[in-house]
Amino acid sequence: MRTDMAALTPLLEGLTSRTSTSDGRAAERVTLPFPGGVPVDPAPSAEDLLPVHDLHDTLQRRRSSLVYGDQPVRTDVVLAKLREVLVRDRDEWGLDDTAGALEAFVFAFRSEGAAPGVHHVTADGCSHVAGLDELGPVEDLGIQREFSTAAGIAAVYGNLDRADSWAGAHGYRVCAVRAAMATYDLNLRCQAMGLVGTLFGGFIPASVRALLHSDGVVRHPLLATTYAHPR
Ligand SMILES: Cc1cc2nc3c(=O)[nH]c(=O)nc-3n(C[C@H](O)[C@H](O)[C@H](O)COP(=O)(O)O)c2cc1C
Repeated sequence: MRTDMAALTPLLEGLTSRTSTSDGRAAERVTLPFPGGVPVDPAPSAEDLLPVHDLHDTLQRRRSSLVYGDQPVRTDVVLAKLREVLVRDRDEWGLDDTAGALEAFVFAFRSEGAAPGVHHVTADGCSHVAGLDELGPVEDLGIQREFSTAAGIAAVYGNLDRADSWAGAHGYRVCAVRAAMATYDLNLRCQAMGLVGTLFGGFIPASVRALLHSDGVVRHPLLATTYAHPR
């Protein structure tokens, strides 16, 4: 961990700038859609996946885990929780129209209730956009192989183009904070349902760039969490 404050201070000060570095045309550049995506119905809850811990107990019990059970997880429930998280981000920050919306992808490796593979999630809905075969060997997509032993991974993406056009480096900072809140929101909702998982930076961006149309500007990965039943 870097503790050289002399080097970090100018970096942190730089994040206060509200001067956009973009060309002012961010609104013209849309996040690429998935025309072949198949709409998926999220499930608000399932008998074997219900909130069992209240907020106090969830916060007391929560810990990061890289050791996972082999059972599949109800992906349709995870999709519903993630969509709720994105709706909450949209409604509470009220920034989607000016600074861009968050979106997310769920990589469902061991899945029940929805097809395994990649699901695209926005505040408006969910769709299945790729099968596991299109992902290739999942242990090669991240730095730490343990992540791919989870039942799945949810990754939150931001629109840095819109964030920068709205408020420069400060816009980037707000986008990163929103992504962190959304990822922890999902992780804690999963832990409240008895699942385990850990936050991490996400897959190596280049490893899924083509599949997700993630150009690193209009659609950029910010933070992710694993989820699984405990071992
Ligand atoms: C932004 C962020 C990035 C992280 N990246 C990794 C990572 O790459 N690998 C990993 O094993 N854990 C990662 N973690 C998880 C932390 O290591 C974990 O939260 C920390 O060990 C504290 O443990 P606790 O959550 O059980 O309190 C990350 C956490 C955060 C907030």
